[in-house]
Amino acid sequence: MLSRAGLGSRRVCDDLIAAGRVTVNGAPAVLGQRVHTATALVTVDGVPLGVAPGLVYYLVNKPVGVVTTSADPQGRPTVLSLVPSEPRVFSVGRLDMDTEGLLILTNDGALAQLLSHPSFGVRKEYLAEVDGTPSPSAVRALREGIVLDDGPTAPATVGVVAPGVLRIEIHEGRNRQVRRMCEAIGHPVVRLVRARIGTLADRSLKPGHWRDLSTDEVRMLATEAVRSEDRGARPPGGPEGWTGH
Ligand code: URA
Repeated sequence: MLSRAGLGSRRVCDDLIAAGRVTVNGAPAVLGQRVHTATALVTVDGVPLGVAPGLVYYLVNKPVGVVTTSADPQGRPTVLSLVPSEPRVFSVGRLDMDTEGLLILTNDGALAQLLSHPSFGVRKEYLAEVDGTPSPSAVRALREGIVLDDGPTAPATVGVVAPGVLRIEIHEGRNRQVRRMCEAIGHPVVRLVRARIGTLADRSLKPGHWRDLSTDEVRMLATEAVRSEDRGARPPGGPEGWTGH
């Protein structure tokens, strides 16, 4: 990894690591550690190595009525129309056409794969306005896991913000998952907003607007995904773009 970052031969890198002169995302590097070369914060003697050039990361607040696919045969607006057309980017995961809120667009395939793979478990928070007022036992059912037609959901963090408004945090990202969970307890979603991805939230970003993610935010997301990997949720072989050093 460090040799790919232009630091020197693998042996030189190993020596630097063994001497305790290298940190990755603030922690001492260890030999053989897997690191996302584009986004990890790597320092040698306290001096940061750069993030790969040419990569862009946008945070978009998707409005209702905009589709997440790159082209829509029915001619509906796509999220790509909300951001610069060059360089070409794609969305990390997707939101339903009727769902609002935060979405990441990037041309960094490795990070996109890492963040969108359900088994990496980056947590996402949704505000769900539902039909009616769920009872405490219905809320408990959401927390404990709901059996959907594609299997049971993992336990979720669920809070009641107001009567009929739930804050639901999940890490799975199955198709229409929040809508199906709420429907299963008898309270279909009326409005759904994704308010947070990992630690990333932005209440000042207006619907239809976008901004660049800061380098720190990109690193934070990558770090969070790696942490969820540490929890044991990792597909066989790991995602592309992740290398040993
Ligand atoms: N869950 C849903 O039901 N829809 C989304 O768009 C995202 C999560």
